Amino acid sequence: MSERRSTAILGASGYIGQHFARLLADHPSFEVDVLAAGDRSAGQPLGDVWHLTEPPPATLGGRTLERTTPARLARQGVRVVFSALPSGTAGAFESECARRGIAVFSNAADHRMDPGVPLLVPEVNPTHLMLLDRRPRGRAPLVTNANCSTTGLVLGLAPVAPLLGIRTVHVATYQALSGAGHPGVPSLGIMDNVVPFISHEEEKMAEETDRILGRFARGRVAPASFPVLAHCARVAVRDGHLEAVTVEARRRPSLEELVAAWSSFDPLADDGLPTAPHPPVEVRPERDRPQPLKDRWAGSSPRSRGMTVVVGRIRWTPPYLRFFLLSHNAVRGGAGGSVLNAEIALDRGYLGAE
Ligand SMILES: NC(=O)c1ccc[n+]([C@@H]2O[C@H](COP(=O)([O-])OP(=O)(O)OC[C@H]3O[C@@H](n4cnc5c(N)ncnc54)[C@H](OP(=O)(O)O)[C@@H]3O)[C@@H](O)[C@H]2O)c1
Repeated sequence: MSERRSTAILGASGYIGQHFARLLADHPSFEVDVLAAGDRSAGQPLGDVWHLTEPPPATLGGRTLERTTPARLARQGVRVVFSALPSGTAGAFESECARRGIAVFSNAADHRMDPGVPLLVPEVNPTHLMLLDRRPRGRAPLVTNANCSTTGLVLGLAPVAPLLGIRTVHVATYQALSGAGHPGVPSLGIMDNVVPFISHEEEKMAEETDRILGRFARGRVAPASFPVLAHCARVAVRDGHLEAVTVEARRRPSLEELVAAWSSFDPLADDGLPTAPHPPVEVRPERDRPQPLKDRWAGSSPRSRGMTVVVGRIRWTPPYLRFFLLSHNAVRGGAGGSVLNAEIALDRGYLGAE
């Protein structure tokens, strides 16, 4: 990776936007030139609206958040945007950026199911990047990551899916407060409580898992064809979505084969992508792991902290495989996932020449 591309963060004052700022402040390939926000935060320095537990990056904390448009970003020479805009707002803005030749890596749901847009988890479905080969001339790549709970699920399933022959997936989630953004859920509604409803989450887990685990052939993605039956609940945890997964399997591999498949899974081992964790899935043997408090920051390097999905409590009573997994919703399931998407797109030649 050579010279850094001029980059904007959209929604930089929000929970995902601040993780973008943290991850991109000293990135070898992307140089943050614009921090964009909505009416609430525009005009203020990023440091004044900062709400992550670690301090803002020294190079960005004093920079002022601004309102912007795709036309203005294009005039400024911005080449790449990382989008943490709310769904609804994101769709038209991101399309217009791509139309003007600015590559988009988005967290928002608006374009996830567009047939020509890769819904990407790089270790799981890198071939889906080839959807970009059919985009109109002059249009820049638009790539999305999945919903935060789907990302953890597909990383937990992908290593063992070929061995199991999945018939059905049941999943119950225990989702962190930060999944609802900042300031998020009112404290009196969640303290001493569990809320068994997250709008559209169960539907997204089903359709996005089918798409990501689907096969790319002849220029399109054929979705996987097993049902994903999800229960999604909000719990009083700051970061990290825990998921209880039950897979009904067609085949009967041994438990040792399953653990070996998870432990040896590292499809990006040789790609040198800065934010890729090695391994992307870690198996914990303890009887009480994974836990949000202990495992949310799993990763193999300072840059990939929070990018490893942790699997544990594995029970194999054929045809049912049961396990828990934990994934940092705002890092692996959010900003870090988008940064990794951009790194693989750059590596595979989709961001053009300098
Ligand atoms: N939180 C997660 O764990 C997570 C994980 C995966 C995906 N996502 C997705 O990522 C996106 C961002 O989520 P978040 O949790 O970071 O939300 P958030 O904390 O509410 O942040 C939203 C950001 O968008 C800006 N914004 C709001 N309306 C705008 C407008 N009309 N024009 C321009 N900017 C506007 C806000 O700026 P102001 O400060 O000025 O209002 C803020 O910077 C959403 O699409 C969400 O679904 C979130």
